[in-house]
Amino acid sequence: MSEILRYDNISIQYGYNTAVEDITFSIKEGEILGIVGESGSGKSTIIKAAMGLLGPGANVSSGDILYKDKSLLNLSKKEQLKINGPLLGMIFQFAGSSFCPVRKVGAQLYEAMRAHADVTKEEFVTKVNELLDKLGFTDNERILESYPSELSGGMQQRVGVVAAMLLNPKILLADEPTSAMDVTIQRQAVEEMLRVRDTFNTSIIIVTHNIGVVNAMADRILVLKDGRIVEMGDTKQIINDPSEEYTKKLMAAVPRIKK
Ligand SMILES: Nc1ncnc2c1ncn2[C@@H]1O[C@H](COP(=O)(O)OP(=O)(O)OP(=O)(O)O)[C@@H](O)[C@H]1O
Ligand SMILES: [Mg+2]
Repeated sequence: MSEILRYDNISIQYGYNTAVEDITFSIKEGEILGIVGESGSGKSTIIKAAMGLLGPGANVSSGDILYKDKSLLNLSKKEQLKINGPLLGMIFQFAGSSFCPVRKVGAQLYEAMRAHADVTKEEFVTKVNELLDKLGFTDNERILESYPSELSGGMQQRVGVVAAMLLNPKILLADEPTSAMDVTIQRQAVEEMLRVRDTFNTSIIIVTHNIGVVNAMADRILVLKDGRIVEMGDTKQIINDPSEEYTKKLMAAVPRIKK
């Protein structure tokens, strides 16, 4: 397995507030890395940085993020567009806000796919239905004809998973992808992400508060506290035998789902 994404000594500030400091890790092709840590520890900041989505108030003050050997920092809009979607897919923490509120879900998904891939309407319909089925929808037609606000939070999240998967990205960055889903649907979403990894050798970074989800998915876990890495290791070791006191507390405090 070769390395596909590397964070090298990354530090990021919002104004005078340091959100993450000295973050170094890498991920291999087909590998799944879980990022855990309490609210505000910098999880979303880390994954948004790779996609150029930090916003104007943020400043990357040191380090680099490399896709293979290419820096993902300071890209032009055009270069970023070529990368976001086909290479880096993102499942957003607040799925609802990643959709345009005044356009129907189906039209938005079609447009997002067409922006990157030369697909016919029929090819799109086949692919989108396949993904919607896998994520537990039974009324695909209605979903595609809905405006985002007409879907529940969990449905929006599932559609967010579909949107990211449409293009089979090389790396999937998933920010709390299952937090608004009930347990059965959560399992389907986890299974779908695993299926994508197994089929396409996709690398996945998954941010979650749900230790059941990281346990089911991740090969390794990175533990964050106040913007710094506390420890990083194999999933079994971090969950069953963490070295750091903070990780022990975190593991004791978080909700679990049965496998
Ligand atoms: N756009 C922003 N402007 C200013 N500060 C921000 C912004 N986004 C995040 N921060 C700050 O950066 C720090 C890390 O936030 P981040 O959203 O990365 O945390 P998180 O680990 O994803 O938390 P959560 O689990 O609640 O989603 C926090 O102190 C937060 O207040
Ligand atoms: Mg977050």
